[in-house]
Amino acid sequence: MNSLLHQEDNILSVQDLKKHFPLKKGFWQKTRAWVRAVDNVDFFVPRGKTLGLVGESGCGKSTLARVVLRLLDPDQGSIRFQGREITSLDKKELKQLRKNMQIVFQDPHGSLNPKMQIKSTIEDGLRVSKVPRRERQGRIKTILETVGLTGDCMNRFPHEFSGGQRQRIGLARALSVNPELIVCDEPISSLDVSIQAQIINLLQNLQEELGLSYIFITHDLNVVGYVSDWIAVMYLGQIMEYAPTETLFQNPLHPYTKALLAASPSVRPEQDQTLQTLPGEVPSAFDPPPGCSFQTRCPLGEDKCSESRVKLREINNSHWVRCLKLSKDLNSRSWK
Ligand SMILES: Nc1ncnc2c1ncn2[C@@H]1O[C@H](COP(=O)(O)OP(=O)(O)OP(=O)(O)O)[C@@H](O)[C@H]1O
Ligand SMILES: [Mg+2]
Repeated sequence: MNSLLHQEDNILSVQDLKKHFPLKKGFWQKTRAWVRAVDNVDFFVPRGKTLGLVGESGCGKSTLARVVLRLLDPDQGSIRFQGREITSLDKKELKQLRKNMQIVFQDPHGSLNPKMQIKSTIEDGLRVSKVPRRERQGRIKTILETVGLTGDCMNRFPHEFSGGQRQRIGLARALSVNPELIVCDEPISSLDVSIQAQIINLLQNLQEELGLSYIFITHDLNVVGYVSDWIAVMYLGQIMEYAPTETLFQNPLHPYTKALLAASPSVRPEQDQTLQTLPGEVPSAFDPPPGCSFQTRCPLGEDKCSESRVKLREINNSHWVRCLKLSKDLNSRSWK
């Protein structure tokens, strides 16, 4: 067992996490296959830091977030939050947990109740946190100001706000329960670039002020490089590489991470001016190849790669990679 998993300064540590969805077909709705949305995932989030979770569409980022938040039940594995195992909590304990972990979604329009005034949206969280009724009005005003909105927004409805403002309201709702960890699932993808910067700055200020920890999900390597302390690169339900941001950008090891960087306009090395696209398609998540899931597109791939499943291994200090060839060549140790 890797000692990093149990360090007290990790707010969250996840080990061997699995979530497969049944693919049902036909009149009798028989399970024909399983979608491996999250497949043996290991990672941790240091307290007060940001973990960036990056990967192509459909690789399992949102499912992983939902399982970690216990909005979905895991099939297997361990999730430790603030040092406590949270995989088998009862309803009451889960309710308590929700106060400590919140999620902010990509589409602030779809995630806010259009019929609810902003004050009611935020008051819900205050009620859950047992804030006395007489204090709530003041607290709602303070929370709105914390996210850069004025108190007079209280009586308005979501449709009266712009996309960026709605994302601030989503954040205010998350903050209403005073959480320790916020999962931001593509929080800026639907916003204009100038507004994106405002929301990123706001998230960073809040982190500094309130000591929040974030899991920041995105497709965008530029954004993830800017906001994250650690980065996990995901492919077909698995973490392929996991390292501190600087290490990952300066010394990417996994061929998939290298391919992502080479295809990204402003993060690739300056001397290399051509964008390189990764050949081939992502295999289907319900029929991944045996062995390494990246082998069908990998420039290093050889017969061995299809023989056995590969574990995430620590190749250098605090630098984990899931690659048979790299693990073989270097003096690595497994996560477990
Ligand atoms: N409830 C579900 N039932 C069946 N399959 C699902 C379910 N939810 C997700 N999936 C499948 O699991 C895989 C991972 O989906 P997920 O939404 O987690 O990916 P993602 O990385 O968040 O993608 P995106 O970047 O497009 O948001 C996909 O193949 C998806 O079709
Ligand atoms: Mg998603």
